[in-house]
Amino acid sequence: MSVSQSAVHLVSHLEHDYLRQALEHDVRTGLTSKPKWLPPKWFYDAAGSDLFSQITRLPEYYPTRRELTILRREALDIAARSGADTLVELGSGTSEKTVLLLDALSVTGTLRTYTPVDVDAVTLGDAARRLAGRYPGLAVRAVCADFERHLALLPRRGRRMVAFLGGTIGNLDPEAREVFLKELRNTLRPGDTFLLGADLVKDTGRLIAAYDDAAGVTAAFNRNVLHVINRELEADFEPDAFEHVALYDERNDWIEMRLRATRAMRVRIGGLDLAVSFTSGEEMRTEISAKFHPEGLRRELTAAGFTVISLSTDPTGDFSLVLAGV
Ligand code: SAH
Ligand code: AVI
Repeated sequence: MSVSQSAVHLVSHLEHDYLRQALEHDVRTGLTSKPKWLPPKWFYDAAGSDLFSQITRLPEYYPTRRELTILRREALDIAARSGADTLVELGSGTSEKTVLLLDALSVTGTLRTYTPVDVDAVTLGDAARRLAGRYPGLAVRAVCADFERHLALLPRRGRRMVAFLGGTIGNLDPEAREVFLKELRNTLRPGDTFLLGADLVKDTGRLIAAYDDAAGVTAAFNRNVLHVINRELEADFEPDAFEHVALYDERNDWIEMRLRATRAMRVRIGGLDLAVSFTSGEEMRTEISAKFHPEGLRRELTAAGFTVISLSTDPTGDFSLVLAGV
């Protein structure tokens, strides 16, 4: 179906009650575990998404620039190989890099619908409106959803390409990644494709610098999860009483971000009727960001039932983009 005017359609699978329950569950589970931890998806309210955008422009944070380099070189080829009429993008954020794919799919002439999917409704809506304005004739059907829970609810019609860019796959731990890849594979049909951006293992110093920038933007991004919990669950975290920690775990090939309590404290989380104590120096994990070897990526995709069509890296070998079929 061709759409003659720019059209934005927004669907949410994350109604307020659902979000609240999911946050309550994650915070209760994470903060009563030993060691404490929080899942990274709660970084992303409007302020967190904005901080992430700032991160992408930092001199130390190479992934966005490297992925852009690959996309500039390969987008037309990817578009032609995919033949997609529907582009679904998971964790789309501001959809900045997506423009390269949308341009390429406009050249090949197959694209009808773009479905960005994100947990942050504000950033999602802004991006959807911006892109609908830029591509008259494209139906933009934005979906506010959790890609770890709602893959089955994504569009089923058409020839789809599912893009998962930026290395966000690395924010899932290996078990969650396996489940995610299998579930995604099961929603795809022959002819559909999966475009995956993944960060690669490299010099540890550069990795740590990318997650502990001199300007302190990543530190603010990390602490933002405490602002989110304060606001949404009536908690009294003092974000500035936590230090940002970024370390590289060489055994698991992942960056770990933590928040370290600078003194002993007791935090009340009113919405959970819970009090949590921190000892001085206690660390709580807030994110892993796994780094891959190309052969490991191929192995994981193949194990989930994908067929790797192409795997490209940027000239420095920092980042990779994989196109896979089913
Ligand atoms: N794809 C963009 C943004 C990456 S930041 C890029 O490459 O630059 C990660 C994005 O994923 C954020 O916009 C965040 O809100 C979203 N996100 C994180 N966890 C999510 C989840 N479980 N479900 C849906 N979106 C999620
Ligand atoms: C979204 N994701 C791929 C980013 C990453 O690099 O793991 C999130 C981030 N965390 C700290 N800096 C950026």
